[in-house]
Amino acid sequence: MKEIKEIGIIGGGQMAEALIKGFLEKKIFSSEKILVSEPLAERRKYLEKTYKVITTENNKKIVKERSLILLAVKPQVMKKVLEEIRDFIDIEKHLILTIAAGIPLAFYEKILREKTRIVRIMPNTCALVHKSISALCKGTFATDEDLEVSQQIFSAIGETVIVDESLMDAVTALSGSGPAYVALFIEALIDAGVRVGLPRNISEKLTLQTILGTVELMTKSQKNPYEIKAMVSSPGGTTISALHEFYEKGFQGIVISSVYRAYLRGKELSEILK
Ligand SMILES: NC(=O)c1ccc[n+]([C@@H]2O[C@H](COP(=O)([O-])OP(=O)(O)OC[C@H]3O[C@@H](n4cnc5c(N)ncnc54)[C@H](OP(=O)(O)O)[C@@H]3O)[C@@H](O)[C@H]2O)c1
Repeated sequence: MKEIKEIGIIGGGQMAEALIKGFLEKKIFSSEKILVSEPLAERRKYLEKTYKVITTENNKKIVKERSLILLAVKPQVMKKVLEEIRDFIDIEKHLILTIAAGIPLAFYEKILREKTRIVRIMPNTCALVHKSISALCKGTFATDEDLEVSQQIFSAIGETVIVDESLMDAVTALSGSGPAYVALFIEALIDAGVRVGLPRNISEKLTLQTILGTVELMTKSQKNPYEIKAMVSSPGGTTISALHEFYEKGFQGIVISSVYRAYLRGKELSEILK
């Protein structure tokens, strides 16, 4: 695989910072090889001081000085950024990576020069602690090698999977929005602990460690959710009583229809941009 030593990042926000941290920790890029464009002077100063990266306010400079470009701006400013950099893209030289939620590859391919190589990535907010799951898909002109390079880069913030773009709205509805669903369940469990008499701080600790431990148990023992439930539910016991209530109130149906709702909304939003 081609070794890429430099990267240019357009947009120096939350996700860019999580990635920069990962790049430095995993030694994917050294700080002087990371060039970031960001409009806010204070933010540029912060990134330079904290990570020793090079910053600029000029997006065109990124495209002129780097062949690997990561677009890390919010979806609503993407069109403006693409129009600004379009004329500086060399289709032989540049590989464009984008993490903007909900923007289909066709949108970039329509605005950028014909045959531009693009890889679309959907990470999630757990990137901030290097526990993201990033789904990647390649555009019409990107190669398998481009996809491999992108996977290597995103392994800096967690795990990666490759999917067809037709599954990107499903990915967004599941793992993109997922941290919010898990946070909602955690919040409810903490309240439940308080309802049965636990002090809130103890309930928080019990809840978080139970979630962490269950995930680790499932991944390390390779047991599926059914097996974990069976391990904890003794006949006529307390756990099966709670599970009975969850089933009766339609917990699984609520989860499935909520994720489906996110999926439909994502499809609706990305159709507008096609
Ligand atoms: N956060 C997540 O969990 C998550 C998950 C998956 C995908 N994403 C995607 O990641 C992208 C970045 O999200 P984020 O959470 O990192 O947002 P963010 O913190 O707002 O970062 C965006 C950065 O881009 C800068 N910017 C704005 N206009 C610009 C321009 N014209 N040229 C260059 N930079 C510009 C912003 O500066 P100002 O603050 O000065 O405007 C800001 O620093 C989004 O497209 C989002 O959909 C995020």
